[in-house]
Amino acid sequence: MRTLVTIIVLLCASVADARYCNSPSCSMCNRLFGSIGMQILRPDPRVESTPQVVVDAMLKELHLTPRDVLYDLGCGDGRILIAAVKQYGCMAVGIEIDPEVADLARRRGKDAGCGRIRIVTGDARTFSLSKATAVTMYLFPDLVAELMPKIKTDRVVSYSHGLPGRDSRMTMVAGKYPIYVLRRTDWDLFGEPKTAERSVRKPESSWTPW
Ligand SMILES: C[S@@+](CC[C@H](N)C(=O)[O-])C[C@H]1O[C@@H](n2cnc3c(N)ncnc32)[C@H](O)[C@@H]1O
Repeated sequence: MRTLVTIIVLLCASVADARYCNSPSCSMCNRLFGSIGMQILRPDPRVESTPQVVVDAMLKELHLTPRDVLYDLGCGDGRILIAAVKQYGCMAVGIEIDPEVADLARRRGKDAGCGRIRIVTGDARTFSLSKATAVTMYLFPDLVAELMPKIKTDRVVSYSHGLPGRDSRMTMVAGKYPIYVLRRTDWDLFGEPKTAERSVRKPESSWTPW
């Protein structure tokens, strides 16, 4: 049985660039790789997704903890949310305007066994973002510009496009993928955020995701 599992894992890995599975359903691969702590996401033609190496770099910039609530605005297939929950144990909210893509993200979250993910279908511009303690985005520049004033946290990372109106720094991931990280004025000398900043905001209004 063990040999069989190993062969299947190796086969999947060979067609999958270790993290991406091209099989019609990822459930089996998710179970196999999930058992050794890996995340499998098959590229979906409906979504232009952030490469996994960039996802990992973006999340690292945010210094997430289990007390955080990460929002991915335009969450696509949910890969950022899944990685955040798996790697950092935080809660994660995806807002996705395309109902089919939102369903895909929900399925993938479920397949990956992530109970701390909520996907809401709708236009990110119409939601309160005040409960987010961290935000990721990979959106068109005009949309990023429109969303920036709604974001209350200063832990924000955007892939590909800058963060207008706020001071950010650009980092190149793997030599070719630019990410923009909001500059924080209130981090201490060792790069750690002040304690008060880390606490999750208390719920204010009627709409949930935390
Ligand atoms: C380039 S994809 C990024 C997906 C994912 N965040 C990632 O990084 O892999 C952008 C996603 O944002 C969604 N989107 C575009 N405009 C949106 C809006 N106004 N509100 C919510 N989602 C939006 C698109 O449907 C698409 O799935």
